[in-house]
Amino acid sequence: MSFTITLADEDRQFSCRADQTILDAALEQGITLSYGCRDGMCGSCMGSLMAGHIEYPQGQPGGISDSEVADGQALFCKAVPLGNAVIKARVVRQSEEIEIKTLPVKVKSIDYLTDDVIRLILQLPAVETFHYRAGQWVYFLLKDGRKRAFSIANASNQDNLLELQIRHAVGGVFTDFVFNQLNEGDLLRIEGPHGTFYFQQDEKPLLLVAGGTGFAPLKGIFEELSTQELKFPVHLFWGSRAQKDLYQEDLVREWVDRHGLSYTPVLSDADPEDKWQGQTGFVHQAVVEAYPDLSGYAVYMAGPPQMIEACKQTFTEAGMDPASLYYDSFDYSSDALNGMQQQDASSAE
Ligand SMILES: Cc1cc2nc3c(=O)[nH]c(=O)nc-3n(C[C@H](O)[C@H](O)[C@H](O)COP(=O)(O)OP(=O)(O)OC[C@H]3O[C@@H](n4cnc5c(N)ncnc54)[C@H](O)[C@@H]3O)c2cc1C
Ligand code: FES
Repeated sequence: MSFTITLADEDRQFSCRADQTILDAALEQGITLSYGCRDGMCGSCMGSLMAGHIEYPQGQPGGISDSEVADGQALFCKAVPLGNAVIKARVVRQSEEIEIKTLPVKVKSIDYLTDDVIRLILQLPAVETFHYRAGQWVYFLLKDGRKRAFSIANASNQDNLLELQIRHAVGGVFTDFVFNQLNEGDLLRIEGPHGTFYFQQDEKPLLLVAGGTGFAPLKGIFEELSTQELKFPVHLFWGSRAQKDLYQEDLVREWVDRHGLSYTPVLSDADPEDKWQGQTGFVHQAVVEAYPDLSGYAVYMAGPPQMIEACKQTFTEAGMDPASLYYDSFDYSSDALNGMQQQDASSAE
């Protein structure tokens, strides 16, 4: 059975099967609704249900509160329709057809960027094309059926290489495996590219806001942007705990010199030994101190969920147009938070 979903602001319709999520149906029919984790956790796909009814077959997802449900909000990556429905959802610009593929990848190199962040360079199969937009992410497919999301940290390139920057979530199924067992030359399986966190051709000055390894997708986006002359000023804010966590500052300083990027590192827990002279505190505070009126800006931000939530609230209060605020929230997978038994990390191979 199929139902009709009407996008209220767009005057567009698409069909959705009773066993399909509204996001899946829209993407299948070439309508790119905004989304991030695809797992009911990050809130990127949240919109309003104006008419009709939906349900969550696996239960109400962790990324929506009871009060948001009561307000008529819904997470379209998990919601299936119970009949025809009218929704308000953010539709993003998709400049090219992007095919989602499942591919084997070979680990070309592993190196430590800090004691708890590893850079993986993955070699895609020579015979395959893998089109993506800088800022998108891939799933690592684990042997037991679980999936783990990581952002691609480089712009698309001729060498068919993907760069990932992976922080160790101690006790985590996949990252324990990456830090303790993965070797150069090993094969992994990925699925992607996923997500709508890529440059949307905003005709505005840009603020890039990273928390920790949230730098990864922003690095890719800036690499893509800097292949052309920048039309508008770009300012990168990078929040981390200590100076050692700003793991690719040499590269950022090169962008400052070569492309005129503005750069503000912000430490929340500076090590006294660093004798840090720069900004301290939280990155969202540093942004609004520098830009108290955000109404004319586009913001791209990635990092831990707490940082994304704080930024959303603070930036909206500073006049930010929500339509120009793009983000990837680095939530853990819902299976980890649902308390699934941690399995032998070797199942990640
Ligand atoms: C769109 C997206 C992009 C992302 N990009 C990046 C990126 O570029 N770089 C990056 O570093 N991260 C990124 N992340 C975050 C990354 O996906 C998570 O860090 C990753 O999923 C952790 O996987 P894991 O299997 O190691 O941990 P999980 O097994 O998922 O565990 C996560 C945490 O939960 C705890 N835990 C697990 N099981 C239990 C249990 N039974 N009881 C109590 N606690 C438990 C673990 O100790 C761990 O701290 C991204 C996330 C999203 C959604
Ligand atoms: S909550 Fe739906 S995409 Fe993340």
